Parts: sequence; C-alpha cells; structure tokens
Amino acid sequence: MSAAYFITGTDTDIGKTTVAAGLLHAARLAGLSTAAGKPVASGCDVTPKGLRNADALALMAQCSLPLTYAQVNPMAFEPAIAPHLAAREAGVALTVQSLLAPMRQLLDLQADFTLIEGAGGWRVPLADQDNLSDLAMALDLPVILVVGVRLGCINHALLTAEAIARDGLQLAGWVANIIDSKTARVEENLATLAERIPAPCLGRVPKLKMVTAEAVAEHLQLDLLD
Ligand SMILES: Nc1ncnc2c1ncn2[C@@H]1O[C@H](COP(=O)(O)OP(=O)(O)OP(=O)(O)O)[C@@H](O)[C@H]1O
Ligand SMILES: [Mg+2]
Repeated sequence: MSAAYFITGTDTDIGKTTVAAGLLHAARLAGLSTAAGKPVASGCDVTPKGLRNADALALMAQCSLPLTYAQVNPMAFEPAIAPHLAAREAGVALTVQSLLAPMRQLLDLQADFTLIEGAGGWRVPLADQDNLSDLAMALDLPVILVVGVRLGCINHALLTAEAIARDGLQLAGWVANIIDSKTARVEENLATLAERIPAPCLGRVPKLKMVTAEAVAEHLQLDLLD
C-alpha cells in the first residue's frame, strides 16, 4: 500500500504536528514505512546547517525513510509570521509551483504512509493568488483535519470541512485534540463535531503531560482511514 494525506487544522498551534507525529508513529508500529513533508515553515532556527524548523524535525523523527532536511522542508523562513509575509520579506517566490516539485518527489518515494503538514489552517496564503490549499489540490491528497478542541472550534472545524469539500478534496478523517482541558461540555462538543463532520473521527487525544509521538499514537486509530 502507499497512502498519503495532507494534514490541516482548525488554526495554527492546535496540534497538527503533534497528531501527525502520532499518526506516523502508529503507522510505524503497524509495520509501514513512513515519510513526511512540511513544505513551508516560518519560525525557523538559524543553525550551522541552515534554517531548521521544529515541526519538520519532529516529523522527520517519525520517518522511516532516510530523508534529508531539504526534502522534508524545502521552504524555510526565520520569522514566526504568516508564510506569505515571511517569503515576501525574504524576497522568495512562494508559489504552489515552488512547493509542488519537492512534494511530488517526496510522494514519489512511495512510502507506505506519507503525511504532508500544512501551515496554520486551510486557507493560508502563499504568493500572488495562491494558497496552501492549492498545493493539497494540485497533489490531489485526501485531507486529515486536526480539530483543536476549545470553545469556538465547532465553527472553525465545520467551515474548514466545507472549504475542503468545495475545493474538491476528500476529508479522510478528523482528530479531536483536546488542547484545552478546561473546555466546558467536551462530550457534547465532540458529539456535535461527530454528527456534522462528514468523515470518521480517527481518535481523541487528551491533554497530555508528556507530549510524545508514542503517547499520541495510543489515542489514534489508523485503520479508520481508507
Ligand atoms: N494533546 C496535547 N496535549 C498537550 N499538549 C499538546 C497537545 N497537542 C498539542 N500540544 C502542544 O501544543 C503546542 C502546539 O502543537 P503543534 O505544534 O502540534 O501545533 P500545530 O498546529 O502543528 O502548530 P503550527 O501551526 O505552528 O504548525 C505544542 O507545544 C504541543 O506540544
Ligand atoms: Mg505544526
């Protein structure tokens, strides 16, 4: 088998990388080979080897294929700001076209299970009129939506699911990531999400004290993906 998914979320900082690392780990436990991409990352550290992004490194740590940093994260920017602004400041043309070739190369490696993590939410601008969602469309990837569960997430989740459908992509599944353990009526909120999101819930990740891919994987059901 060779399956690949685009990971999006209801917002920035709601657990896309955390869940992606958990899914990749679950895939490895199931004996699958894994690969991952973070096509564009802002908020990178300056290192002797070049710019490095924590998301890309966390994903790489769960990849069984031997990948170079540039294969995983071809576009890296230092400031932790919206990617299109970071690219503009760096004088770099951040178009779908610029991300398409490196992500196609990654997918061509045909790992059993590949994840490509977006940045922020679904409709994140690149350069010109391009959005990161256009990359998911150009790659024709099914999408996994990470819902950062907190007050307001139902609206964000449903709008995102609607946009994915309108863009002609399949929503393959969603994950409830309980980022705010004080969220009131969690059960009722999750029931509403389950009723209204037209895709299977791949798991509910509780607020963890130790956030590791191993711990996250225990809460995810990879076999619910097509
Ligand atoms: N279930 C959880 N329990 C505890 N902490 C979590 C959980 N999920 C995410 N976090 C923490 O929340 C922060 C944001 O998570 P993460 O980096 O996965 O978000 P993201 O959506 O990938 O962000 P970005 O938009 O920057 O890519 C991290 O510090 C992570 O450890
Ligand atoms: Mg991330």
